[in-house]
Amino acid sequence: MSKYRLRCTQCGEVIPDFAAWFSQDQSCKCGCKRAVAEYSSDYNKLKELIEVKNPDNFYLYSDFLPFEDFNNVVSFGEGVIPIENWTYLEDFARENYGIDCKVMVYRNDLNGGTGTFKDVAASLAATVFRENGVKEFCVASTGNTATAYSRYLALAGIDFTVFVPKCVNQDTVEAILSHGQNVMVCDGDYSYAKKRAAAFHEDNGVMISAGNIDPIRVEAKKTMVFEFLRQLGRVPDVYIQAVSGGTGPIALEKGVGEISGVFPDVKLPRMILVQQDTCDPMVQGWENAVNTDFMEGWENKYPVIDNPQTIVSILSTGNPGMFPVVAPIVRKSGGTFLRVEESGLATVARTAKEHRGVYLGPASAVCLSGFYKALEAGEIHNGETVLVNTGEGAGRSSAFREMIDKA
Ligand SMILES: Cc1ncc(COP(=O)(O)O)c(C=O)c1O
Ligand SMILES: [Zn+2]
Repeated sequence: MSKYRLRCTQCGEVIPDFAAWFSQDQSCKCGCKRAVAEYSSDYNKLKELIEVKNPDNFYLYSDFLPFEDFNNVVSFGEGVIPIENWTYLEDFARENYGIDCKVMVYRNDLNGGTGTFKDVAASLAATVFRENGVKEFCVASTGNTATAYSRYLALAGIDFTVFVPKCVNQDTVEAILSHGQNVMVCDGDYSYAKKRAAAFHEDNGVMISAGNIDPIRVEAKKTMVFEFLRQLGRVPDVYIQAVSGGTGPIALEKGVGEISGVFPDVKLPRMILVQQDTCDPMVQGWENAVNTDFMEGWENKYPVIDNPQTIVSILSTGNPGMFPVVAPIVRKSGGTFLRVEESGLATVARTAKEHRGVYLGPASAVCLSGFYKALEAGEIHNGETVLVNTGEGAGRSSAFREMIDKA
C-alpha cells in the first residue's frame, strides 16, 4: 500500500496516488481542482528526524512526502538550508523601537538547485513525475519556478515549456535556455502568460502546473515547518514572507496542521505577508477587509492590477486569484499584509550586504523590508522570535545587484 493518498478538498473523495490524479487531469470527479496529501506514516518518527544533524536534502522527511521509491529522487541538495540569526536586525529593533526580539533568517538563496525558494518544489515535482512516467510539463511563471523547474526537470529527462511575462528578467530567460528547456516570452503580463500556458496545455495535452495549490508544491514547501523544529526547536512566533501567488502560507498551514497530533503546542505563526507598492493587490484587498470589518464575502474582494510596472518581476501577480484561500489563513494566524516601497528595496538590501555580506535578490529585499515595516506598524512584540523567509539571492537579477552596489 502506498504511504500517501490525495483527498479532494471539496467532496472528500480519495484519489489513491499521483498516477490517478494525473490521469484525471489533476481534478476530482466533482470538478474540484484542489486535493491535499495525507500519509499513513507514523508522525512520531518526525521527533527522531528533527534530531538529525547535517542531512543532505529535504528527503530526510520522505516519510511525509508523496513518492515511494528513492531511486526516483532528483536532488541538488535543497531544503535543509541554514536558518541564521541576524543580530543587526535585532539591534535595530531594540535601538529604534525598544523591542527585544530574536530575528532568524531562512536562507533559501542557499538552496542547491537554483538558489531560490522554488527548488524544493521543483525537486519534488521532478521526483514525482519520474515516478509516475510524466514526460512533458508546462507552466506560466514569473521567473523562479521557471528556472528551478528547468534545471530539475532537465535532470529527470522531462521536456519543459515555460511561459513568462514580458517583464521577466533576462537572466531568467538565459537560465531556462541553459538547461535546454523551452521558453516563451509572452507579450503581456503574468495573467496573459497563464492564458498562453493554458492554451498550450489544451492544444497539446501537455500536463500543466496546478498553480499555488498544487499538492506537490505544497508538500515540498511544508517541510519548512519540520526545518523550523529541527533547527530552532520551535516554530517562530512571526513569519515574514514576500507573497505573490501564496504557496508559502498555504504550505505553512498544511505543515503545522499535519503535525498537530504529535506536537500539540505548535501553532500557526502570525503571518506577515509583504508586497511592494508597485504590485500590491493582496495588501489592498486586506486593507479593504479591515476597513469593512471583515464583512461577509470580504475574501472575494480584491483589485486586479493589469500590467503591473515593477522591477520585482518575481512578485508581479496582478490578479491574486489565491487571495480567497490565503487571506483567511493570514487572518486565522492573527497576521496581516503589509506594503513596502519599491524605491527603498536597494537600500534595504544594501544593509544586508554590509552586515552579512549577502546579496539579496529583489523579492528577498521585499521580504526584508517587511521586517522594518512590521516594526513600524507595531506588529512585532517583545520576546518574540521572528522568521524572515528570504527567497532568492541577487543571482536572479544582475540589474538589482548593481542597484545594491550603488545604493
Ligand atoms: C523569492 C520569492 N519570494 C517570494 C515568492 C512568493 O511565493 P508565494 O507567494 O508563492 O508563497 C516567490 C515566488 O513567487 C519567490 O520566488
Ligand atoms: Zn471532489
